[in-house]
This record gives sequence, C-alpha cells and structure tokens, in this order.
Amino acid sequence: MKRDFLTITDLTPAEIQALLRDAAAYKRGRTGSPLAGKIVALVFQKPSMRTRMAFEVAVMDLGGKVTYLGQDDIQLGAREPAKDVARVLARYVDAIVLRTFGHATVEEFARFASVPVINGLSDQVHPCQALADLLTIQEQLGRLRGVQAAYIGDGNNVLHSLAEACAMTGVHLSVATPERYKPEAKLWQQARELAKPMGAKLELTTDPRAAAKGASVIYTDVWVSMGQEKEREERLKQFIGFQVNDDLLSEAAKDCRIMHCLPAHRGEEISAELMEDKRSVVFDQAENRLHVQKALLAFLMKSSRKQGAKKRSR
Ligand code: CP
Ligand code: NVA
Repeated sequence: MKRDFLTITDLTPAEIQALLRDAAAYKRGRTGSPLAGKIVALVFQKPSMRTRMAFEVAVMDLGGKVTYLGQDDIQLGAREPAKDVARVLARYVDAIVLRTFGHATVEEFARFASVPVINGLSDQVHPCQALADLLTIQEQLGRLRGVQAAYIGDGNNVLHSLAEACAMTGVHLSVATPERYKPEAKLWQQARELAKPMGAKLELTTDPRAAAKGASVIYTDVWVSMGQEKEREERLKQFIGFQVNDDLLSEAAKDCRIMHCLPAHRGEEISAELMEDKRSVVFDQAENRLHVQKALLAFLMKSSRKQGAKKRSR
C-alpha cells in the first residue's frame, strides 16, 4: 500500500508531530538523500510560486529529480481523463504533487496512481500549507497545544486545512467569516469533532473583533481564490470589515503574530502596514513550506516502501 497526502486527516496526530520534528531538523540543517534515484512529477492546473518552488527545491535537496507539467501541457480532463494521466504518470515517476480545482480530481488521481499523490492545493483544502502553518506557530510560540489563533476572512481551502490541523494538535481557533463565506459545514463539523479529544476549541462567528480577541496568532488569506475571479466584485463588497489591520490587532494579544499563506493582496484582506510589521511572520511561514515539504516527501516515500508499495517499473 502506498501513502497519499490529500488532506490533513490522512495523517494521525502522532504522525503530524513526528513530521513537524523532522521538518524542524531539516530547518536546522539535516542532510541526507532519502529521495536518491526518485523522480517526482508536479502537475499544476493553477499558478504557484511557493508550492512549486518548495517542492522542486525539496526534491533536489533530498537527492531526487523533478519534472513539471502545467495546465497547457496536459489539459487535464479535456485532452484526456485524469484517471488515465494518473496511471501513465505512475509508470514514469515515484510520486506526484497535484494542484487542481475540484477535490474529486485529487481523489481520482490517488485512486488510479500506484505511487504517492500529494495534494498541492484543491478548491477544498491546502494541507501542505497547514503543515507549514503548524511549524510556524510552534517555532514562534514554543508550543501548539493551548495557543489561541484566529482566522479572519474567507472560509476557503486554506481555512479548511488550518482548522483540521489546529484541531489535531490542540490549537484553539476562532474563525470570523461573512455569513455567505463560512467554511463548508461538513468539514467544519468534522474539524470540531477532531478537536474534542485534543481539548481544542473551534469557534465560528461573523464578528472579526470577537474572533481576534486575545489571539496570539491572526491568520488571513485572499478573499478571491484562484478560480473565483468572476466573483471578485461581489466578494470585495461582502468582505468589507474583514481586513486584518492595526485596528483589528488592538483586540489581539500584545505579542500577536500575523500569518498569511501568501500571495497577499495588500489593502484587501491585509493592510500594507501589517504585512511589513515586525509582528508579521509571513516570510518565515513561506520558508517553512520547504522544510515541511522535505519531511513530508521523506515520510511518504518511507511509509509507502515499508508497506510494500509496488516498485515503479522503468
Ligand atoms: N501559499 C501557496 O500555496 O502559495 P503558491 O500559490 O504560490 O504555491
Ligand atoms: N485560497 C487561495 C490560496 C492560495 C495559496 C487560493 O486557493 O487561491
């Protein structure tokens, strides 16, 4: 059996902790070539800077090689079905990182590819980002359990994974979104269930000030995600009052850290001043993508091998 990483809940809480320890070790300078002789394919239907670069550099640093297929190269689902691409690619490479629209496509890829599939962002979740978010919170505040975090903005893919990640590591998360842009009810409920045994509280409101109250971490993401460009005008209206700025920060803890998965739209979800503020840790957060991606690749390769996954024939 091979191991995929399509969503945070594909890992157990213990595996998340182990992965964060490995990521911190890579950050401190751990070397080694767990991907020697391996080739990883990146299949991206949406633009990317951090995810693409973090994976490319991670694979190279770990002794492997990467190859990239963009939307125009394969026209996934139009030129041929995703399940055919998945089966062919799995015969060429040892792991696939997929960035796509519908989450069902990621699941289809994982079902049909005989090698590990990593979700590099779908419309529903962004689990690789959430691993970097946890590492950032842990190194900034010295712990995860009991930290009070707030997410202000769109109930989107980034929030869905953040909520699961917080729930599984004991981080309290207060979320404020406009009524129309709440997280998906099923995912939110699931995250709340996951939070119970960890003693974490997940709360949802439409009042940004209430969510930010006393928070040690304030997190935001764009109001218009990739693929939602046609909704831009309407969304900008609906999100008035949800900007992360100095005024909102007055509700938060004094030494509050500001987080954003990037790319950021200054003047929309976050003020230009706060992006450059000394409380902003967004560039550490972006750097951490690299370290967690290394830990994740090494982990998936190792666990897939242990579980006797079929060796690629080449
Ligand atoms: N945060 C993030 O995933 O950035 P990219 O879209 O640039 O990969
Ligand atoms: N929510 C954003 C995240 C980008 C990294 C999007 O999906 O476009």
